[in-house]
Amino acid sequence: MEKRLDLAPGYSISRVINGCWQLSEGHTLRGGLDFKDVMRAFHMLADQGLTTFDCADIYTGVEEFLGEFVKELKGSSGVSPDDIQIHTKYVPDIDALSRVDFQYTENIIDRSLKRLNRDALDLVQFHWWDYAVPGAVEAAGHMKKLKDKGKIRHIGATNFDAEHLAEIVDAGVPVVSVQAQYSVFDRRPEKRLLDYCKANNIAVLCYGTLAGGYLAERWRGSAMAKPETRSQVKYLQVIEDTLGWKGYQGLLELLGNIAQKHAVSIANAATRFILDQPGMRSAAIVGVRSSRHVASNAKALSFELSAADIAEIRQYLDNYAVLDGEPFELERTIGSKYREIMKMNLSEE
Ligand SMILES: NC(=O)c1ccc[n+]([C@@H]2O[C@H](COP(=O)([O-])OP(=O)(O)OC[C@H]3O[C@@H](n4cnc5c(N)ncnc54)[C@H](OP(=O)(O)O)[C@@H]3O)[C@@H](O)[C@H]2O)c1
Repeated sequence: MEKRLDLAPGYSISRVINGCWQLSEGHTLRGGLDFKDVMRAFHMLADQGLTTFDCADIYTGVEEFLGEFVKELKGSSGVSPDDIQIHTKYVPDIDALSRVDFQYTENIIDRSLKRLNRDALDLVQFHWWDYAVPGAVEAAGHMKKLKDKGKIRHIGATNFDAEHLAEIVDAGVPVVSVQAQYSVFDRRPEKRLLDYCKANNIAVLCYGTLAGGYLAERWRGSAMAKPETRSQVKYLQVIEDTLGWKGYQGLLELLGNIAQKHAVSIANAATRFILDQPGMRSAAIVGVRSSRHVASNAKALSFELSAADIAEIRQYLDNYAVLDGEPFELERTIGSKYREIMKMNLSEE
């Protein structure tokens, strides 16, 4: 498999992207993170060719931390700041949606530029919490203006379904990618989004491919898995509504056996199952909390799952439910447990 993906002409990213939500304040529920080790992990990842990082304007403290990384790279003789790609997001607060105008958008983008120590943002991924509040297409249009002004290089979207993504694309906003939660046991993007993206040459940047770390040897044979992070709280809900604990354990067994055959980890097999879906231009965003998994993640692109491996995994999954609705639909639904765990006013906090 190609190790890089051309997201746009002249702009290539690593197919395993280093996800940084995990570094956000409050994400770790118990204990703390060793940020010196995380910085070491960033250098190691970049040295190994995993040069693309994903963050957001609403990941508290993370744009600033990546800005520190950029500063360190400026002073080093190895990888330079121009060799890495930093993807951020533009996530207006839910309470602010009705007052989003060009100035609001530009202020957020200027804040990201300053925090990240960049002259231009490589990719800004646009999120809109509530389709019922008008203004999403206009706000995406502000980003196009900021692209024309040179503050943004490329525009992406995050957590849009095919129908609403199409409204933005049809309005002439040059969207190169969309982020979606897509894993072995959350295959909602397969309903419509993947086909739309294929037809419109939009890359899919997949998150949740490791289910917050639940798709790993560590949980094989375990009787329970108390969430240690906010992302695990979410993915445990997905396990409950799809495989159930027993089905999840069966999946770990299956992935474990396949991984062993290829001398890789369960995480690698789970990542490749998603990246190997036919016809998709994609990358997997894998969350980083330490240097512990650097070597493993660098191996994700070094082997191939066979057609028989993929068929075996699919056959297993066919026995279980796929989550209801389109990507991020449950997360948008008032009263749903998926929505209740989300914080929707972090930008101005
Ligand atoms: N657009 C959105 O709405 C959205 C939403 C969620 C996430 N994201 C992006 O996607 C990224 C990924 O987040 P996620 O919540 O979906 O988490 P994930 O990538 O499914 O899981 C990450 C966790 O898996 C464990 N891990 C990482 N590499 C591993 C390996 N090789 N082997 C075993 N375990 C490994 C780590 O936990 P331990 O260190 O504890 O083992 C890490 O915290 C985020 O950082 C963010 O950039 C975007």
